[in-house]
Amino acid sequence: MGVQGMHETARAIVADHKGILAADESTGTIKKRFDSIGVESTEENRRLYRQLLFTAAGMEDSIGGVILYDETLRQRADDGTPFADVLASKAVIPGIKVDTGAHDQSGFPGEKVTEGLDGLRGRLEEYRGLGARFAKWRAVITIGDAIPSTACLSANAHALARYAALCQETGIVPIVEPEVLMDADNTIERCYEATAGTLHRVFHELDVQGVDLRGTLLKPNMVISGKGCPEQASAERIAELTIRCFLDHVPAAVPGIVFLSGGQSEVEATENLNAINQVGGPWPLSFSYGRALQASALKVWAGDAGSADTAQATFVHRARMNALAAAGAWTAGMEQPVAA
Ligand code: 13P
Repeated sequence: MGVQGMHETARAIVADHKGILAADESTGTIKKRFDSIGVESTEENRRLYRQLLFTAAGMEDSIGGVILYDETLRQRADDGTPFADVLASKAVIPGIKVDTGAHDQSGFPGEKVTEGLDGLRGRLEEYRGLGARFAKWRAVITIGDAIPSTACLSANAHALARYAALCQETGIVPIVEPEVLMDADNTIERCYEATAGTLHRVFHELDVQGVDLRGTLLKPNMVISGKGCPEQASAERIAELTIRCFLDHVPAAVPGIVFLSGGQSEVEATENLNAINQVGGPWPLSFSYGRALQASALKVWAGDAGSADTAQATFVHRARMNALAAAGAWTAGMEQPVAA
């Protein structure tokens, strides 16, 4: 795929206020999710669950791309169709997580650096052959005493830029994901500072390493209060500070910003995205949610084939609510629960 193709792919993923389903939980993470509903994390159960999500009727109206994990990209639906083809047949673009996880950064206690660059060129070529048209790499930035450090921001930004350049060489759109975690007890102002510093370094490195921004999507955290902060900012304040931060640090050439949910509840993630779009900016502002698209659907399913239809309806409802939020057109009154 040439440069033009990557630009089109990036734009298509977020066209018409659509967003991304992050279904790329690693084997360890999906086990945690399955443990919470008492389902054993076997390869077949993982296949059945992902099949439920991908074949849900109408998800394609709100979901423009799905991020898969290595195992899932190699799996097939019951009728033998590879999952990548199941998605592509509904005009949903298949993507792939390519980092190999965040590991302790040597010399910087409490901080992480994401690995996975070794051998990445070859893996990207294989993934492209299997149908992936975009990729994801997640850097993790922690707020704490005197952190994030410059060393952590610099190492992660460098890795993100090298990953993005390798993706584009293969014709794959990189999703650049620097996630400032919301797990601490920091104020929203502290999150603003950490997010601003992170984005500044990331876009500097993308520029240094010649990454084509028009063929890139940004997957950031919202500027939000830490979970343990006694004073939780309102959706309006989150929207105001998020847009202010991004106007200062994210070039308008970026064809889409797709937020992660990062531990927000399903409705919070929708409400905040809606508020962000009511302020608005020069980019499509959409979602790339994992937990905030799947939490209720996973509970409804609970491993029971008899609940699959209701679980699918629950997932499609969540996806639709978020596409409305990506248009700034969601209201709380639309949150009717799907019949159980
Ligand atoms: P959450 O929306 O659950 O944070 O997951 C999104 C994701 O892909 C994180 O890398």
